[in-house]
Amino acid sequence: MKFFIDTANIDEIRSANALGVLAGVTTNPSLVAKEGISFHERLTEITEEVSGSVSAEVISEDAEGMIREGKELAAIAPNITVKVPMTLEGLKAVKAFSDLNIKTNVTLIFNANQALLAARAGATYVSPFIGRLDDIGQDGMTLVSTIAEIFDRHGIQSEIIAASIRHPLHVIDAALNGAHIATIPYKVLEQLVKHPLTDQGIEKFLSDWNSKK
Ligand code: E4P
Repeated sequence: MKFFIDTANIDEIRSANALGVLAGVTTNPSLVAKEGISFHERLTEITEEVSGSVSAEVISEDAEGMIREGKELAAIAPNITVKVPMTLEGLKAVKAFSDLNIKTNVTLIFNANQALLAARAGATYVSPFIGRLDDIGQDGMTLVSTIAEIFDRHGIQSEIIAASIRHPLHVIDAALNGAHIATIPYKVLEQLVKHPLTDQGIEKFLSDWNSKK
């Protein structure tokens, strides 16, 4: 399983990239709004920093608008992936992007039928939202494993991005359940690195070293 970072904050993206583990970035309109900057300028900055897939979401609700916006976003850099919501209009747009060889990430996936439809329309990535399902008392991770099994059984090439990740256990479970990618907030990335025994071990090694004769 690969790691994407789920943020539009350039400092977080640069810090994550410096770790050498970053395979891509996902953004969404809420994350971009928090930054208070021009979307296109920020996407330019991100694509200059990260060579992997950078998901940029359209906000139109009709296929025609999505296609127009998506073409503009895709023109920013070759590694832009157009993020499209899982709707009837979204599926039409995904098909059009697929015909144009523009990569897509179908977002807001909450059941396996949505994932299968997105894949058949030509989605490069499908994004099941784990945390938001957990929030309403459904098991987000079961959805990841169901989609993985269906894609595997039918030889579907679309990659599964486990999204709406809230904590480190989600990351382990996403890997175990067949997600190709987990897109995680920077805070969770920091949590993945940490273990109290690692900290204690470093402290002990240093204190032994400093007390050597
Ligand atoms: C993924 O592409 C989305 O941007 C994201 O994971 C949504 O997460 P949230 O449910 O924490 O907003």
